[in-house]
Amino acid sequence: GPAVVKKKLVIMGKSGAGKTSMRSLIFANYTANDTRRLGATIDVEHSTVQFMGDLNLNIWDCGGQHKYLDSYLSEQKENIFGNVEVLIFVFDLETSNKESEYVLYDECLQNLGQFSRDAKVYCLVHKMDKIQDPEQKKTVIEAYRKTLIQRSSMFRPGVYGTSIWDHTLYKAWSEIVYTLVPNMAVIKKHLSNFCRLTDAAEVVLFERATFLVVCCTSGYDDEEPRLEKYMSVSQGIKLYRNSCADQMSPFRSTHIRTRAYSLFIEPFTKSTYILVISADPEVEPAVTKANIDAARAHFS
Ligand code: GTP
Repeated sequence: GPAVVKKKLVIMGKSGAGKTSMRSLIFANYTANDTRRLGATIDVEHSTVQFMGDLNLNIWDCGGQHKYLDSYLSEQKENIFGNVEVLIFVFDLETSNKESEYVLYDECLQNLGQFSRDAKVYCLVHKMDKIQDPEQKKTVIEAYRKTLIQRSSMFRPGVYGTSIWDHTLYKAWSEIVYTLVPNMAVIKKHLSNFCRLTDAAEVVLFERATFLVVCCTSGYDDEEPRLEKYMSVSQGIKLYRNSCADQMSPFRSTHIRTRAYSLFIEPFTKSTYILVISADPEVEPAVTKANIDAARAHFS
């Protein structure tokens, strides 16, 4: 098979911002409730996640207590900020000291500029569930975005509002991971062909373990499908899969028929699930399954 690509992803932010919570939700099947029991991270917690077969994500979850931060920014700086592919900085919406959070961000970016100047930076403004009003959410994110872009000089950070309580976390992480998957162009081409040949309305690939959206395509040329639509599917399937596991009947696949559509979610390759949406609610499940089986060969 293709050579394994290793990429280092660093998660940084103050203690209690929610770094370990989001990592556990995305990569370790925690529920949002489970995160209440998490203790503070001691120094750096390393984990390696096999993602889409040939991508190995090397995740550095950096504990945010002062004693650790001080050491990341001094004696450990080359170790922490060297060879970084992606830096994710988690801002706590409820921080007691916004300015010191920004200062920490500045210091991290200085070191990143020195040791990994080509890294990508993502800023997650986290715990957005603390704000109810959607308009106010937008205003808050825009204010962060403006400040962060000003402070980031040579880096152009992507800024997202996130919460472990809704699909926004999946949206941000799908966008992050999307840019890391090797051969995305090839995957996208195969997916479009499949969509066209089977007359599907839309086809979406999900990474198997995380259920993050990897790629999606629409059968209608004029419509560029938006990843966003499927983020709630990611969240929903993970919740569903957890409850299947609780009942000792592991989730395998599902078929949903509405008045207008037929939806199939099936295991696809070793590292993906596929969602096929057909605009014909009467489509024979066996036909769709056969199409999926036939397509599998091109992707494996
Ligand atoms: P350190 O390991 O000390 O650096 O902290 P951390 O950034 O890893 O924080 P952690 O993930 O341990 O989360 C701290 C608390 O925040 C936990 O009680 C979580 O349940 C809570 N939390 C995490 N994400 C969210 C969120 O999106 N909304 C709300 N309301 N609470 C959250």
